[in-house]
Amino acid sequence: MLPAALLSLLALVTLAVADPLHVPLTRKSTLRRRDRTVDPAQFAKARDRLQVKYGYKPHPSDMLSRKRAGQTVGIPTINSNEDSSYIGPISIGTPAQTFDVVLDTGSSDFWLASSNCRSCGGVPTFNPSSSSSIAQPQTATGGQEVTIRYGSGEVQGTLAQDIVSMGGFTVNPQTFLVVDDLTQGLLDGQTSGILGLAFQALASTRATPFWEALLNNGQFAQPEMSFFLTRFLGVDDATASEPGGFLTLGGTNSSLFTGNIEFLDLAATDSINDATFWLLELSSVTVNGQSVSISTGTAALSAIDTGTTLIGGPTDGVQAVYQAIPNSQALSGQMEGFFAFPCSTSVSVSLSFGGQSWPISTDDMNLGTVGQGLCLGGIFDLGLGSNIGSGGGNPSWVVGDTFLKNVYSVFRADPPSVGFAQLSTAAGGSGTPAPGTGSATFSATGLPIPTGSGTGGSSPTTSPGTSAAHPVSPLSVLGLSLSLVLSLTSALWFAA
Ligand SMILES: *[C@@H]1O[C@H](CO)[C@@H](O)[C@H](O)[C@H]1NC(C)=O
Repeated sequence: MLPAALLSLLALVTLAVADPLHVPLTRKSTLRRRDRTVDPAQFAKARDRLQVKYGYKPHPSDMLSRKRAGQTVGIPTINSNEDSSYIGPISIGTPAQTFDVVLDTGSSDFWLASSNCRSCGGVPTFNPSSSSSIAQPQTATGGQEVTIRYGSGEVQGTLAQDIVSMGGFTVNPQTFLVVDDLTQGLLDGQTSGILGLAFQALASTRATPFWEALLNNGQFAQPEMSFFLTRFLGVDDATASEPGGFLTLGGTNSSLFTGNIEFLDLAATDSINDATFWLLELSSVTVNGQSVSISTGTAALSAIDTGTTLIGGPTDGVQAVYQAIPNSQALSGQMEGFFAFPCSTSVSVSLSFGGQSWPISTDDMNLGTVGQGLCLGGIFDLGLGSNIGSGGGNPSWVVGDTFLKNVYSVFRADPPSVGFAQLSTAAGGSGTPAPGTGSATFSATGLPIPTGSGTGGSSPTTSPGTSAAHPVSPLSVLGLSLSLVLSLTSALWFAA
């Protein structure tokens, strides 16, 4: 159950979705009927209230939560562009229109490209005028226009409310942003928007995030969302759209993990009142079995972020990682902030957040060749050239899919924590890191990456094709930049 303080806080937030639990409170109950005869049911209720007050009976909210058994629903997701993003279907409006949106634990806003958007490219768009249930949210200021600023762009739109459903769960009304202008390249292919799965305090729309509304309404069997993310990086013949694994809302799916879930308390917060990102403190990093030195405390705050493709970190920590990899080097120009290492090197990185050390597959650390026998690493320097200051609750690390593909991850609201468990064999887990080596991975992957020519043009140059390389997929690069941008957005907004 949520603390009472949180419920009252939510009630004060003007944009908060109405909570059905509150509705009965507005009804006045009377002990006598209009004809002045006694209503026994009302007396019974009054007695129950007293018994509860003095501890003779359990609190009705306890009884409520038992009676209203919440649900756990698994939603199959799509792996977009070789692990660049993980998207899932969401329905909105009357009649329902269905869209694929990025499932992003690194932000808290929900937005969709609108059919009025001229800059949204060819993505499927939401047509607000064909929904009979759409409404304008009531805001204190009357301001309906919201801009979400990104590291390298922004989305702009109008606040709206409508019925929103995912996996059989419904929030009505859900406040979201109907986007009519965005920086080009933010969306690709079939993706129409972003579903933010972090906390309300981070939302630039100030709306209660979809998942928190479900939680508040007692619709979840457990206060949890869980992810199994598939890996198609380096898989021959992978298409732009592959099975992405499962998002489980309201619990976990025991067939997708083995052993215990290691839950780690969220850092820098006591409750979901003031939580922003899903933040853990990175406690140790090992590279090929060697511990590397990283800054601790607030400099180790890490956003656990399904909406980011890679792992970003502070300059000193990322440099320490690559110093432990022989013959690695920093890239420059357009690829500034990235590092490469000899493709013949197998790089095993493990992360710990205060508990056990979780290994990252060597496949995930090797993003493919950048030429000259060098391969791009999955960990990059987030601090370099960005406006994000660390401190003030901002994450120094953004731990994205490069890590999260290797674990079953559980985002738990109460107590606020993130859990990791070993993937089951059904989820592609073997209990040990994948045996791929750098050279084998390289020839299988061949994912072309822009080289550091620093032309400043909008279309990145690519390295010359190497043996057994895939055809160039500009979408992969776009997907990557989208995901990077998403995290930057959250951070920037939070900093503002
Ligand atoms: C749990 O995961 C399995 C895959 O191992 C899947 O077939 C099943 O549908 C999932 N169950 C739910 C409720 O999502």
